[in-house]
Amino acid sequence: MSFDLAARLAARRADNLYRQRPLLESPQGPQVVVDGKPLLAFCNNDYLGLANHPQVIEAWRAGAERWGVGGGASHLVIGHSGPHHALEEALADLTGRPRALLFTTGYMANLGAVTALVGQGDTVLEDRLNHASLLDAGLLSGARFNRYLHNDAQSLAKRLEKATGNTLVVTDGVFSMDGDIADLPALAREAKAKGAWLMVDDAHGFGPLGATGAGIVEHFGLSPEDVPVLVGTLGKAFGTAGAFVAGSEELIESLIQFARPYIYTTSQPPALACATLKSLELLRSEHWRREHLQTLIRQFRHGAEQIGLQLMDSFTPIQPILIGDAGRAVRLSQMLRERGLMVTAIRPPTVPAGSARLRVTLTAAHSEAQVQLLLEGLADCFARLSSEPNHA
Ligand SMILES: Cc1ncc(COP(=O)(O)O)c(C=O)c1O
Repeated sequence: MSFDLAARLAARRADNLYRQRPLLESPQGPQVVVDGKPLLAFCNNDYLGLANHPQVIEAWRAGAERWGVGGGASHLVIGHSGPHHALEEALADLTGRPRALLFTTGYMANLGAVTALVGQGDTVLEDRLNHASLLDAGLLSGARFNRYLHNDAQSLAKRLEKATGNTLVVTDGVFSMDGDIADLPALAREAKAKGAWLMVDDAHGFGPLGATGAGIVEHFGLSPEDVPVLVGTLGKAFGTAGAFVAGSEELIESLIQFARPYIYTTSQPPALACATLKSLELLRSEHWRREHLQTLIRQFRHGAEQIGLQLMDSFTPIQPILIGDAGRAVRLSQMLRERGLMVTAIRPPTVPAGSARLRVTLTAAHSEAQVQLLLEGLADCFARLSSEPNHA
């Protein structure tokens, strides 16, 4: 007996599901160099265009000079440094909650929060299109795990009837592969009516959503009682890396005691926290970034509708074009790349079978002229694809 990895890989290729990593040879931004070729990219999550911002880079550089480059230890030993603490306070302020706790990645924040809050005898209910890290967290928690229909408060209500023990309802704020937003007021109502807690992972909402960029909770004007557990990630609109959970004093103290992905890992480099503090300042002060992004989103949707592309119900920077067949999505992505445009094809199991798509993301660093180039490229590639015998 041996592991037949070759057969597994061959099957993945045959299904058009084989993943490859494009090699980025430039900083993140609209104009990138990938595998040696200059491309105009519409696929990163740097929604506010901060990943390569000179002031953020300078804050990182100055932070490294002051604090060194390594976290050195876990937070509970001697890795919790001044910049980490200052960033937690700034994130608590951004979210209007008493405390925030920094994690090294969003994946770990989600694992940490869910597994610290529920276990055997409890219940975790999740939107069926939640991010993989939330679904994995629910499965790992040992709690009874159930998924409700996408963004459907009625379907949630039915499952809440049968819930036992402490019950955690978990949803993405902005759904990462679809771009639509959770119906948080309805979900919060159902959860509160049954004494359950609502946890929202707003990885894609912080930055683009809300009057001050404080995300989906600000967008809907909800209170900390509506959303007791709020997660944000720092590798998207903040342009850096890491994540946080924001909530009550008791919540954060509980995570410090019980969240294993918080306890048993080295803290992020303090200089990274210095950089994130700077991007948080820009996120809060430079409103033009959110406004420009909205202009681009409107321009893209209007243009794509005119070409007859099948868009999803999204007003966020995530603007997927539904294709269906994985092979067709990959072919379109290749054709766009030959034309100097980079848009990633997203295929199962990241999205449900038969719903492969081109995931277009727009950022404040793009210009209207660049969005126009994308629209022209899409029109041309869709027209050419329909004349290819295998993909018509
Ligand atoms: C909704 C959502 N949550 C969590 C994560 C994980 O965050 P991180 O990349 O910081 O691990 C992602 C994507 O990366 C995401 O899209």
